[in-house]
Amino acid sequence: MPLIAVLPGDGIGPEVTTQARRVLEALDLGLSFEEAPVGGAAYLQSGRPLPPETVALAKRADAVLFGAIGDPRFEALERRLRPEAALLGIRRELGLFANIRPAKLFPGLEDASPLKAEVVAGLDLVIVRELTGDVYFGEKGRRTNQEGLRQGYDWMGYDEGEVERIARIGFETARKRRRKLCSVDKANVLETSQLWRDVVNELSTEYPDVHLTHMYVDNAAMQLVRRPAEFDVIVTGNLFGDILSDQASMCAGSIGMLPSASLSGGSGANGMYEPIHGSAPDIAGQGKANPCAAILSAAMLLRHSLENEASAQRIEAAVAQALVGGARTPDLGGTHTTQQMGDAVVQALR
Ligand code: NAD
Ligand code: IPM
Ligand code: MN
Repeated sequence: MPLIAVLPGDGIGPEVTTQARRVLEALDLGLSFEEAPVGGAAYLQSGRPLPPETVALAKRADAVLFGAIGDPRFEALERRLRPEAALLGIRRELGLFANIRPAKLFPGLEDASPLKAEVVAGLDLVIVRELTGDVYFGEKGRRTNQEGLRQGYDWMGYDEGEVERIARIGFETARKRRRKLCSVDKANVLETSQLWRDVVNELSTEYPDVHLTHMYVDNAAMQLVRRPAEFDVIVTGNLFGDILSDQASMCAGSIGMLPSASLSGGSGANGMYEPIHGSAPDIAGQGKANPCAAILSAAMLLRHSLENEASAQRIEAAVAQALVGGARTPDLGGTHTTQQMGDAVVQALR
């Protein structure tokens, strides 16, 4: 019986994860679930955002279903005690270097995006975001500079091995789709990016069937608004991928629509599945959160960790059907509660 570790986290994390778990249970796949605290919720219970028992469960499980972490109450804590440290820590502990973030426009959501319907029509892209390196994990700190001024610093860097393995995921992903790979960097300024570009170019000789382009991140941000449907697969570093995926979410109508898979590459290794959004403290506890990103993350879990493509597609079809049937949370311009949106998806599964 496959074991799913459920880490609901903070804010809307538990609300959306409840709906994702319901949908998985409705499929009757004989999964077992075990829950553990993470983030601010774990800090309140045990004084640490990522308790060792939670890491142990995540490692023991076949896959991890993650909600969201983050809470303004903990922003003044030292960094290693903040909720975000738990998410970065678990990604690192599980070696989840590849973050797959698909952005697709579901039928009927053309008008949910603030962009014109004709601009977002046909949107179907995947951002392959590197997840365990970059400026996120370099040395960081505070010091006083020579003028006596306080200074903060974060070291940015990649080694060629880190670039090659994520670029390979990018090429492989493109190969299974429309065979277009756009590598996004800032090679005109950053040496980290120039190495990135060199390594991607070198690897491209192994993928002559994939059309590779390079784009600077500032241009990519612009093109995502101008012609988002042109993109097929984007491969990029940790920081740029974080920013561009939130931006891409609005082409799909809402950040509440975008799921993700975080993978370690090894076959059979357990992945982690989570919405790209955060804990949304501004709407937490009000039943306003859109659970679709979490539900679609559960579909990715079935696809990537349990190799159950048919059930993954059933969930995606059920979300599509619920939306076509008019189910909409407030972020999509509707009045459905989180629970009612979950109801609509479960209904559509039957
Ligand atoms: P956020 O993604 O939590 O929220 C941004 C905006 O989007 C808010 O207005 C929120 O209400 C809305 N939103 C987000 N998810 C939604 C959903 N499912 N349905 C409807 N509306 C939704 O980003 P933020 O406000 O910058 O960060 C809040 C906290 O979350 C911070 O502590 C941050 O560090 C954390 N965070 C965690 C993750 C994660 O757990 N993966 C991701 C991003 C941010
Ligand atoms: C995300 C989040 C995280 C990130 C934060 C909360 C550490 O924004 O998952 O997109 O930057 O990776
Ligand atoms: Mn983010």
